[in-house]
Amino acid sequence: MRLTDTHCHIMYGVDDGPDEPEGSLAMAAMAAAGGIGTVVATPHIVEGLYEGEDRARQLQELQRELDGAGIDVKLLAGAEVPMSYCLTVTAARLGELSINGNGFLLMETAEATFQQLRRAAYQVRLQGLYPIFAHPERTSFVQEHPRDFAGLLTAGDGFCQVTAASLEGGFGKRVLRAAEELLDGGLVHLIASDAHSAGEYSSNRTPALSQCFELVRKKYGGETARLLLEENPEKVIQGEMPCQPPPADARKARWLGLLKKGRHFRRL
Ligand SMILES: [Fe+2]
Repeated sequence: MRLTDTHCHIMYGVDDGPDEPEGSLAMAAMAAAGGIGTVVATPHIVEGLYEGEDRARQLQELQRELDGAGIDVKLLAGAEVPMSYCLTVTAARLGELSINGNGFLLMETAEATFQQLRRAAYQVRLQGLYPIFAHPERTSFVQEHPRDFAGLLTAGDGFCQVTAASLEGGFGKRVLRAAEELLDGGLVHLIASDAHSAGEYSSNRTPALSQCFELVRKKYGGETARLLLEENPEKVIQGEMPCQPPPADARKARWLGLLKKGRHFRRL
């Protein structure tokens, strides 16, 4: 099993991830031990504070340190971009910040309203890129209005990435319920760690995905686990469209408005 983590704050000294190289090395070692072969480094972009200017050099340096320490993890460039930033910068800049430079932009969705999310997603699509909504299960409007969010996804305006710790109960019952609802409806394209350290703080968001793989495998089957944690992440880093899994719960999917004529799910 060689999983790909498409959301990880592994770079040191740039955001709320580790402060020192040792913290990044510990995260990489934990990722490797947990079956992760590729990690997309996704530091928070904060306008006027850190906009990823020196990202390529910093990432190269960290890769050298991992190689030197014998840690078998490949790092790729990405970023976690706030919605407001998507409205103000050029398509070229957004493209540079996309995952592996291949057109899928990880968009921060915390505390977003439906209108904000739709506007930012529309702008990103206008620029020729695809938004990946980061941890929508932690957003109040998605918890309260999952059908509106489902509509955004099925309109082709973006892809959905759930945090592994949400499914493991690290953010409490409300977030767990929202994450499961999205999975039941076949609305999730990717699962990622959103890890900030190798420690246990921050709702258990460590760079370990094997436990979540097992959890998804038991509840939704091995094909779905492989799709969300291996195949779709690999597609995204290659710039290919991720597949949507079939809904696990047809009644839930119907309620979310997903089983309309013409909807196409991947057969598993
Ligand atoms: Fe994040």
